[in-house]
Amino acid sequence: MSDTKTRPVLWVTRKLSANTERRAARDYEVILNPEDRLHNADEIVAMSARVDAMLPCHSEQFTADVVARLDPRLKIIANHSVGVDHCDLDALKARGIVVTNTPDVLSDATAEIAMLLLLGAARRAAEGDRLVRDGRWTSWSPSFMVGRQVTGKRLGIVGMGKVGRVMAQRARGFGMEVHYHNRSRLSADLEAGATYHESLDSLLRVSEFLSMHCPATPATRGIMNAEAFACLPDGCVFVNTARGALVDEDALLDAIESGKVAAAGLDCFAVEPGGNPRFAEHENIFMLPHIGSATFETRDAMGFRALDNLDTFFAGDEPGDRVA
Ligand code: DGY
Repeated sequence: MSDTKTRPVLWVTRKLSANTERRAARDYEVILNPEDRLHNADEIVAMSARVDAMLPCHSEQFTADVVARLDPRLKIIANHSVGVDHCDLDALKARGIVVTNTPDVLSDATAEIAMLLLLGAARRAAEGDRLVRDGRWTSWSPSFMVGRQVTGKRLGIVGMGKVGRVMAQRARGFGMEVHYHNRSRLSADLEAGATYHESLDSLLRVSEFLSMHCPATPATRGIMNAEAFACLPDGCVFVNTARGALVDEDALLDAIESGKVAAAGLDCFAVEPGGNPRFAEHENIFMLPHIGSATFETRDAMGFRALDNLDTFFAGDEPGDRVA
């Protein structure tokens, strides 16, 4: 792809890692976004007439309305994300636009953040940090800042894909007993001793800790509703690093206020950016701003994976991570 006359035009919608942008500029006629400005639907549609390919993030919304207005010049959307809930895949498929994602490469980073949230929620990390930082740490006693121990507890994992399995492995290192619910049971080697629950309810009933690792799809949106929270053991710790859309946030707040959920660790929210201001009223909700995959290593790996998909597509082959 070295002949500049025939190089496809690629729009990289957000500021990506320097290594990714360097490689993109080497191989494509690239339009970058050094100011990292978020583009609206009309701008995305307008850009589609200027480019053969887009490399967007989950921050760009390809709704049915946007997809209907895309210019036929656009051939491929190579996402810089594993989640593709920002893309109306049926509409894109109907338009013949190829869509890819970046699976596998962010599993370690996301599982690290899930573990951080699990430990931080259980052991009151955000509350303790605020206390010391604000100069309000004025006494100590054996009853001070007592949290929930993780070792020996049951962890329920909803969605045992790559991230869920890495999370299971990390949790075993902390002496947790792993249970999971998934669309289908894994083979024994992938299960690695975890207990399969055919129904979500069955998993929830045993989960002293619960961690969400499934994609947001029509089948999973709002899966953690009032009935689901009611199934959890009293005093459970809830962790979400997958998507805010999985959770009915009012139901989570009710569960926090009743003590059904003792603490929560959240990296994603129904409204992003911003989150839910009502969560901030609760010391026992430990929050991060959707940074599950935000490591230097993983940003490079995501960018390269998206570029690999583009290279394969423009070489006339089927991209390995095609989702539509
Ligand atoms: C993903 O890849 O889906 C992460 O949430 C970051 O976009």
